[in-house]
Amino acid sequence: MRIQTDRLVPDPSGLARAAQILETGGRVAFPTETVYGLGANARSDAAVASIYAAKDRPAFNPLIVHVADAAAVSAIAHLGPQAMTLAAAFWPGPLTLVLPLKPGAGISPLVTAGLNSIALRVPASKVAQDLLRACGVPLAAPSANPSGRISPTTAAHVLAGLDGRIEAVLDGGPCAVGVESTILDLTGTPRLLRPGGLAAEAMEDVLGAPIIIETTANDTRPMAPGQLTSHYAPRAPVRLNAKAPLANEVLLGFGHAPDATINLSPRGDLTEATARLFSALHDLDASGAAAIAVSPIPNTGLGAAINDRLRRAAAPREG
Ligand code: TXA
Ligand code: MG
Repeated sequence: MRIQTDRLVPDPSGLARAAQILETGGRVAFPTETVYGLGANARSDAAVASIYAAKDRPAFNPLIVHVADAAAVSAIAHLGPQAMTLAAAFWPGPLTLVLPLKPGAGISPLVTAGLNSIALRVPASKVAQDLLRACGVPLAAPSANPSGRISPTTAAHVLAGLDGRIEAVLDGGPCAVGVESTILDLTGTPRLLRPGGLAAEAMEDVLGAPIIIETTANDTRPMAPGQLTSHYAPRAPVRLNAKAPLANEVLLGFGHAPDATINLSPRGDLTEATARLFSALHDLDASGAAAIAVSPIPNTGLGAAINDRLRRAAAPREG
């Protein structure tokens, strides 16, 4: 059944309307600095279940919970010394920490898929902060796209995938970072579960210790949806590390690439390329490109997140 999806401006009345929808169990897509999230009240089983329904997400995978500040995090989970250090350095910002869940924190078990840990994030974007403060409840929010498709970095991307399936989208313009948050598991020795908008090197510098990288695709026991092999998939097939496009391909360039249809960063800047990545894939998809070739991209810093998403976009598809 299709429902009406309201496009809300993040002014005081739009924020109040969004908060009201969330308080009554509805879904609101909202901008964060990473990507648009599909938010619902993390305390409500029905609201959380309705996120999965809108996305056609096949199973109940654990979701990230968004709160306004580290104090709100500590009401839900235990912050050890390393978590405190990283929180002080990088929150608000594109970092998600997996932490031990406090019993009785009141979070729906559908959010954590019954685990005794929980993924928490304090987003930096002003609209996300305003919304969290207006609604006063923690928001469970995966990326606001149909399962397996490219994550949205504009309200138009959200509507292209979810119009008629969610109650509203708050339009806060394009996302500054452009890929999802970095996920670090701190329930034991620090383990990187997903490279993202915060470089692993930056966390290692602050912790003064190396982080275990655990992001190899694992289809039999996916720890994170991002670890399923095919994900972030445009309709067109994708070929990586291309020196030049073949006859049927358009080139997604990086650095010097005169043949590029879209160049992620002609000057070879990884931050700029990250911010443009999902928009470029959305645009190439919308242009009806038959096949997409991608220039080589260095694997350091944010390049690790770009290459992770591109490998999944290039992976064999089901069906
Ligand atoms: O940038 C982002 O992180 C975006 C924006 C909207 O904030 N959100 C996002 O959320 O990507 P989501 O729910 O799609 O990704 C959550 C990831 C999943 O891959 C999930 O498996 C993992 O975090 N995760 C959640 N809880 C976990 C837990 N307790 N243990 C291990 N992984 C967990
Ligand atoms: Mg996602």
